[in-house]
Amino acid sequence: MYTFNDFYINGEWVKPQDGKTCEVINPATEKSIGTISLGNAADVDLAVAAAKKAFETYSQTSRDERIALLERIKEVYMARYDDVAQAISQEMGAPIRFAKRSQAGTWVMHLDQTLAVLRDYKFEETHAAHEIRKEPIGVCGFITPWNWPINQIACKVIPALAAGCTCILKPSEIAPISAAILTEILHEAGVPAGVYNMVNGDGPGVGAAISAHPDIDMVSFTGSTRAGIAIAKAAADTVKRVAQELGGKSANIILDDADIATAVANGVKGCFGNTGQSCNAPSRMLVPEQHLATAIEAARAAAEKIKPGDSADEKTMMGPVVSELQYNKIQALINKGIEEGAELIAGGPGKPEGLETGYFVKPTVFANVTNDMTIAREEVFGPVLSIISYKDEDEAVAIANDTVYGLSGYVSGEPEHAKQIAKRIRAGMIHINGEEGDGSNP
Ligand code: NAI
Ligand code: MG
Repeated sequence: MYTFNDFYINGEWVKPQDGKTCEVINPATEKSIGTISLGNAADVDLAVAAAKKAFETYSQTSRDERIALLERIKEVYMARYDDVAQAISQEMGAPIRFAKRSQAGTWVMHLDQTLAVLRDYKFEETHAAHEIRKEPIGVCGFITPWNWPINQIACKVIPALAAGCTCILKPSEIAPISAAILTEILHEAGVPAGVYNMVNGDGPGVGAAISAHPDIDMVSFTGSTRAGIAIAKAAADTVKRVAQELGGKSANIILDDADIATAVANGVKGCFGNTGQSCNAPSRMLVPEQHLATAIEAARAAAEKIKPGDSADEKTMMGPVVSELQYNKIQALINKGIEEGAELIAGGPGKPEGLETGYFVKPTVFANVTNDMTIAREEVFGPVLSIISYKDEDEAVAIANDTVYGLSGYVSGEPEHAKQIAKRIRAGMIHINGEEGDGSNP
């Protein structure tokens, strides 16, 4: 059992101001794996005061000092790598092999990349008549989700440490254990007091206090559109910088000149990676009308190969979804797909046979989906793929862009051709002929 009922403020573990504990559930077993506390605005005040004080000195550290700190963090992280992977697997249900290979590995990947950038980053540039100096923003508030718990923290905390910022992290209350272990790692690595602080809690209790705090200069959030909007509004009154990474309903355009069966199989794998719980999941597969039958067969075969199972088993390829709430939401969307007339070709409602305990979902594929159906519009955040056919490329591009989201997109086909189509997709990150969509790239 994990017990992390204290918060980490100013370099030490401290009791919450008003301790309310909360169980952390393993979605594969539905059992508690430990407890954390849910904090409030008073805890946030203490953490912000520590971060504000620490900024005075940490912002003045040299590049070399920060490089040394990041290198030391990496050493300690590697020593506790398996603890992190175990925690992730238990708190959000990632199969242990995936937790070790992909989930826990994201910290190392981002740390190495940040170090590479930091080593020769131009903090100062001299021009003919002026000088540009890039300075740390100040105190940062970070609010993170449960789907890639360490990755999302890595994307925020590592660059902040590299730049000379100080921070307050509020991890997801659904998957907070890996973050607590990470906090032990940062402490052991010698992150100076107040530079990194961690307060657990929920959105209304701690997330809202971070978003509105007058002494926080920037808030960075990853999670639902709903929470993103609330955070941006709460941050507006204090004119904070706000960075957000929200949901997606990414199109995967398979072109006529792609190897259809291979592209479909990769697309299924991509959509089902991390049990479909990735913001950039290629969840709408667009196939040329004349190849629909081939695509359906390939998708069914690929989906049937994926067997959900116990997250603790080294052989398991797909774990449960994160919580009962998400399970119910996904079931409702699968039923909605059937109701609205999509053709179910794999999976469907209910739990997979033999997995009655745990929030397991059948790997599900719908064909003959139209882009106005709920399953084509809403982010399912589970292993549910929608196949939509198109007549010509203009229609494919139009369908791809007909979404409120714009996070990511995928194109498969002859490389030059795919590149031309990719340019027409209105999304921030396009994968061309990649297998990046296998869920190992959150
Ligand atoms: P959520 O957006 O409610 O939670 C993410 C984080 O935001 C958590 O740390 C939570 O405590 C915090 N939060 C919630 N409300 C807040 C508020 N008003 N102010 C400040 N912080 C707040 O996500 P949830 O409910 O766990 O998942 C719901 C849906 O969100 C999923 O089905 C999926 O569609 C989407 N999602 C997207 C993610 C992404 O990576 N883009 C990650 C997780 C969820
Ligand atoms: Mg959990």
